[in-house]
Amino acid sequence: MICLLALVWIISCTTDVTGSANTKYLQGEIGGNVTFNCFAGEKANATFFYFQINETFINGYYEDKDLLKYKKRWNNTKLDGNTVHMYKLKVSDSGLYQCIMLFKNEGVRKEYYQLSVTAKYSQPTVIKSCEEGFSCFVTCASHGGYPGTEMTVNVPVPKNTSGQMWKVVNISQMSNPITMEYNSTTTVVFNCSKGQLTHISCSVGEVTSPMFSVCEHRPEPDPSDHTVVIIAICAVAVFIVSVGLLLYCRCKKRQQHRQIRNDQQMETLRGGEAEEGTC
Ligand SMILES: *[C@@H]1O[C@H](CO)[C@@H](O)[C@H](O)[C@H]1NC(C)=O
Ligand SMILES: *[C@@H]1O[C@H](CO)[C@@H](O)[C@H](O)[C@H]1NC(C)=O
Ligand SMILES: *[C@@H]1O[C@H](CO)[C@@H](O)[C@H](O)[C@H]1NC(C)=O
Ligand SMILES: *[C@@H]1O[C@H](CO)[C@@H](O)[C@H](O)[C@H]1NC(C)=O
Repeated sequence: MICLLALVWIISCTTDVTGSANTKYLQGEIGGNVTFNCFAGEKANATFFYFQINETFINGYYEDKDLLKYKKRWNNTKLDGNTVHMYKLKVSDSGLYQCIMLFKNEGVRKEYYQLSVTAKYSQPTVIKSCEEGFSCFVTCASHGGYPGTEMTVNVPVPKNTSGQMWKVVNISQMSNPITMEYNSTTTVVFNCSKGQLTHISCSVGEVTSPMFSVCEHRPEPDPSDHTVVIIAICAVAVFIVSVGLLLYCRCKKRQQHRQIRNDQQMETLRGGEAEEGTC
């Protein structure tokens, strides 16, 4: 057995360069599964089959007195003939894998698989904070992605004015030390002096936020509001005029009564005038 291991080691050292020419690429998602179809359809005549990453053995079997004996080091793998299933992928499972098989007639053959484990970023969330008429700060944030990717803000303005209209104020990519997943956040500030800017979006990796706009104009008062105001002013005016008229008529009436009662005396008339002022 030790001889076999030594043999495998020597072979892996000597044939790495030629072997990597036919590397197959596999992609998996964090938490997902991946399958290595080593030597597809060639399970006959094998004396041993090793699945390893770099020089580290992961799973495999060898023939011992016409019996196949299985060995396994990684618990997230399962062997099915020469097919290796790998479960619950982690970012750290990324790497160059080798399938090594000793065929009774042909000798040792190797296959290479480059696995890259990625994670999709969440759809970016957009948070706006505007100082009406001056500027708008917009923060786009997305989490749980791998590899680390910058959040970009797509603003459809001509290149020559772009520098005046908006600029990036902060870009951050923070990664979780255990899962290695990234949070990607970018903050930009918009110049609102030219009014509304539309069809803006944020993207990270292959995910993009819905379109949004910034620097919306202060909402114009609704024309129907004017009508309401005019009606209200008219109503108040009519009310004041009516009250005025009513008071005036009352005074006039009292005055007339007094005139009828004391129709000869000028003094009384003057008194009436004085009284008229008080009503
Ligand atoms: C991975 O494999 C396990 C076991 O076969 C299965 O239960 C699970 O649904 C698979 N996960 C994905 C994302 O395919
Ligand atoms: C905002 O844009 C106007 C032109 O529309 C420009 O004159 C002004 O300098 C800009 N402000 C900033 C802070 O870039
Ligand atoms: C940029 O954003 C990150 C994450 O939100 C924050 O930790 C950092 O302090 C910010 N940097 C500046 C200069 O504001
Ligand atoms: C990433 O974002 C998620 C959701 O907003 C948060 O719970 C987590 O703490 C963040 N992780 C890091 C490393 O900033």
